[in-house]
Amino acid sequence: MDHFLYRDGALYAEDVPVAEIAAAVGTPFYVYSSATLLRHFRLFDEALDGMEHLVCFAMKSNSNQAVLKLLGDAGAGMDVVSGGEYLRAKAAGVSGDKIVFSGVGKTADEMRLALTGGVRQFNVESEPEMRRLSEVATSLGMVAPITVRVNPDVDAKTHEKISTGKKGDKFGIPIDRASEVYALAASLPGLKVVGIDVHIGSQLTQLEPFELAYEKVKDLTIQLRAEGHEIIRLDLGGGLGIPYERSNEAPPLPTDYGAMVKRVLGDLDVEIEIEPGRLISGNAGIMVSKVIYLKEGDDRQFLIIDGAMNDLVRPAMYGAYHDIIPVNERPAGAQSATYDIVGPICESGDTFAKGRSMAAVAPDELIAFRSAGAYGAVMSSEYNSRPLIPEVLVQGDQFAVIRQRPTFDEMINRDTIPEWL
Ligand code: LLP
Repeated sequence: MDHFLYRDGALYAEDVPVAEIAAAVGTPFYVYSSATLLRHFRLFDEALDGMEHLVCFAMKSNSNQAVLKLLGDAGAGMDVVSGGEYLRAKAAGVSGDKIVFSGVGKTADEMRLALTGGVRQFNVESEPEMRRLSEVATSLGMVAPITVRVNPDVDAKTHEKISTGKKGDKFGIPIDRASEVYALAASLPGLKVVGIDVHIGSQLTQLEPFELAYEKVKDLTIQLRAEGHEIIRLDLGGGLGIPYERSNEAPPLPTDYGAMVKRVLGDLDVEIEIEPGRLISGNAGIMVSKVIYLKEGDDRQFLIIDGAMNDLVRPAMYGAYHDIIPVNERPAGAQSATYDIVGPICESGDTFAKGRSMAAVAPDELIAFRSAGAYGAVMSSEYNSRPLIPEVLVQGDQFAVIRQRPTFDEMINRDTIPEWL
């Protein structure tokens, strides 16, 4: 459920007409709903009621500081994967003890930043990283709390580019080497083992792969404890999918996921951490764009819009589907049309949808891409020298620009031309 609904024939973001925001900030832009963000966070939080837990928002999905502050104030922790994300979380007021540092290639500088600023734990992904972290912590006179990310070798049954828990993926250590790797961790002076971490992929639409992985983590918890390690915390990663194609998708809900976690891991006496990104922010955002031209091709009609692959790259990058709807609602039975929906960028990959059947729209009309709140703005670029598009946050009947559209000058003046040219 989200808060982008038609009311009196027009699309609203909570209580604000989307067209009103477009008039204020110009197109294209992203708009997020506070109520949806909070609702999704709370669904997870409540789903784990009864177990000690922390929901750490995977801020790679949406790292605007206003979004982080909203969720942080509601009690969320953060899952970060870079020094930049760490500093953004801190800038949004999240305290270090609620920040989990993930990622396969943490640098010594990033480790130092998080150790001195405060961190809940590092999710370590390899032996070389373990040694490096121990050295950095020791040099600061500190001890770094860690989990080790294990690769459980399960098929997440999702897009190959976002599957991370199969043999051959670059993530974690093979689960059958865990014993050896934990023994190494215990021997390093700068580390303190606190738990186990697992994340098998993103946009999972079934619970079975999670359950398979968590069963393996359960067995490993028992084994590592028997080997003398203190496993007080399990980080179960993120990955629960959302219905991008609402008409025919119904992935499991956080409630179902929470019930499964409690069933599988409930009697282990551990604290649970989860790292959902997409399910919290995905359906909490839309991207609004304007139709520039309708162009007749040989055998198709192109809808050329002012948004492009640099603004929302998921369709070009993963062949991802996003529902695309007109901002002015059409009455039932209104005329529909079939379009190739494309942006102005100079490559054929700049295509949002091919042969998409939708309400017939006209030049200058506004359209909205649904489910664009996760991996939308954060993956945008200035390709073709198109300035990053603004982000807007709505709460009830108020809205605020939470990232301005840069001016052309701001964008251009970031380059410097050497004096010898
Ligand atoms: N934790 C870790 C360690 C992760 O690598 C990820 C996502 C998450 C949590 C959050 O997963 P989520 O709950 O959002 O599925 N750009 C791609 C998605 C990449 C996901 C990468 N890792 C997309 O647009 O579909």
